[in-house]
Amino acid sequence: MKNNPIVFTLFGNNDCSDAISQALGYSVGKLTVHSFPDEETVVRILTPIQHAQVIFISTLDRPNSKIVSLLFAAKTARELGAAKVGLIAPYLAYMRQDKQFDQHEGITSKYFAEMISEYFDWMMTIDPHLHRWHSLSNIYSIPTQALHANARIAEWLKQHVTNPVLIGPDSESSQWVSEIAKMINAPSLILRKVRAGDKQVHVSVPQIAAYKEYTPVLVDDIISTAATMIATVKQLQVLNLKPPVCIGVHAVFAGVAYENLLQAGAAQIVTCNTIAHVSNGIDVNSVFIAALKLLLID
Ligand code: R5P
Repeated sequence: MKNNPIVFTLFGNNDCSDAISQALGYSVGKLTVHSFPDEETVVRILTPIQHAQVIFISTLDRPNSKIVSLLFAAKTARELGAAKVGLIAPYLAYMRQDKQFDQHEGITSKYFAEMISEYFDWMMTIDPHLHRWHSLSNIYSIPTQALHANARIAEWLKQHVTNPVLIGPDSESSQWVSEIAKMINAPSLILRKVRAGDKQVHVSVPQIAAYKEYTPVLVDDIISTAATMIATVKQLQVLNLKPPVCIGVHAVFAGVAYENLLQAGAAQIVTCNTIAHVSNGIDVNSVFIAALKLLLID
């Protein structure tokens, strides 16, 4: 990318902006997000940005508390003369609401995509939850890139787990589980999941007696309530398998989900650093750096 890219963070993600700045020489800009007593917000961009490529980095877990400031930041940058305004969202929210699950509700993944597309010129993220939407371009009207943590997870597994069998809790997970299994030459299984409510999940495990000597490794894109992982851990216990290593790309962990998963019997919980969490063990900043090197937006 030409034209002095300047990266800004709003709510943490400083490890990502620092890694990008170090690897690519981009400047790290300064901004403040001020809340008035009435809880309205003003974003002040303190670094000059006229004619610059501006990139905001904001992971979007707990999105409702972030989105107004983020959109104001993008609009402010444009009005202060930025040439282009891009968004790196290490975790992209609202992707799971990809159909009308109830006749009274809307498809909020589309509404969220429309807002982001109106305020930004481009967006990149890691492993967005693409299930019923097959591509971000189904709902985003700006150029987008869905990057993957697969290679980084495969590297971590090679270094830390002997004799793994990779297990995906549901059909969507086969897209990353099969890929990672191929990368490390390990067997993989995809389970069947039925979600009866926010925290009620049933999974059925196919014949896995042959894997008793293996280390089960559950891999999912999002761990939110952890109900999916917990149901799977319990099924593996019934089948007398070893306690599994649980890997999630995005450590959303609502409430005490992390503690519940540990208590359910996970041997280890490891996540990528798209959302800052004590379980972060797999660094994916290099994935953004590699993509930015190839980005041709002027
Ligand atoms: C949905 O299908 C996703 O891939 C994850 O399985 C899901 O988001 C996990 O959510 P939870 O931790 O609440 O079970």
